[in-house]
Amino acid sequence: MTVQDMYLKLKDKLRDVVPDAELRIKAELANEINRLKTERNAVILGHNYMEPALYYSICDFTGDSLELSRKAAETDKDIIIFCGVRFMAETAKILNPDKVVLLPSEKAGCSLAASITAEDVRNLKARYPGVPVVSYVNTYADVKAESDVCCTSSNAAAVVNSFGSDKVIFLPDEFLARNVAAETGKRIIFPMKDEENFEENYQLIGWRGRCEVHEKFTVEDIDNVRKQFPDVVILAHPECSPEVVQASDFSGSTTAMIRYVEETKAPRYLLLTECAMGDNVAAANPDKEMLRLCSIRCPHMNQITLEDTLEALRRTQYVIEVPEDIRLKAARAVERMISIG
Ligand code: 13P
Ligand code: SF4
Repeated sequence: MTVQDMYLKLKDKLRDVVPDAELRIKAELANEINRLKTERNAVILGHNYMEPALYYSICDFTGDSLELSRKAAETDKDIIIFCGVRFMAETAKILNPDKVVLLPSEKAGCSLAASITAEDVRNLKARYPGVPVVSYVNTYADVKAESDVCCTSSNAAAVVNSFGSDKVIFLPDEFLARNVAAETGKRIIFPMKDEENFEENYQLIGWRGRCEVHEKFTVEDIDNVRKQFPDVVILAHPECSPEVVQASDFSGSTTAMIRYVEETKAPRYLLLTECAMGDNVAAANPDKEMLRLCSIRCPHMNQITLEDTLEALRRTQYVIEVPEDIRLKAARAVERMISIG
């Protein structure tokens, strides 16, 4: 494909979303990335939160955390470039250790993954001996290694229900845990550090991690939008508070939200999730009206640019490594998650 062809392809998709001058520059970068990608036998996995020009130009596969984990496990390419955040690239390395896994920016972290350490998990296991540990995939490899199974937003309730046990530790997202508790009819507690736990009759033990993006949406936001547009359909990611999820019409993973918009015919939609995804969904559904409540970009996903992805390919950076003893234990938890689906 020539640069002009790439420009026209992007223009066709993104004329209402990205300014023309920017599209011309990005078309050039994207073409060079695609050329090098072939030369180096690499695959590019792009999370649904990638900015529109990147999302629609260089990704071999796009998707939510679960879908991209599957693609990472299956690929036979030499290099996996993860256009997402560090915990996602680590998951790719955990599942496919013989590949070189690259994350284009060293700064692409995640507030949820940063909210808990492996030592925190060991302390919880000592406090609740024998209780199985479910960790959200938004955690680092050493936390996964201390867990029995991982989950993503698309299979969290199924994973919790897969245990016969009457109690489950669910880490680290407070809101996802409370949403899963509501969905599965379980009572949840959040034990305080170094304090006796006098609560009884609980089935889920949570942790107070938060997604710094999704915690910002409020029921007041929803009420204001509904007042103005009574026929709007509101979709919320399960990392939003239970109150926000309850006030919405649908809640699901990033891909579940994309499918919902594709498969339904509402007068207008509002997505309560990371901003760039609203642009990507709007571009894919030009016949549907997407409202924007869009001041919230994930500062970590936002680090991944076409410029950095090109440098990642040119310089083979930043290589993701996971120590083998941790990787083996983490792989058990992630593979178990994938088998639950
Ligand atoms: P998904 O698994 O729904 O793609 O979510 C990942 C994420 O980081 C949401 O903030
Ligand atoms: Fe982490 Fe939230 Fe960003 Fe997703 S949106 S990567 S959960 S900080």
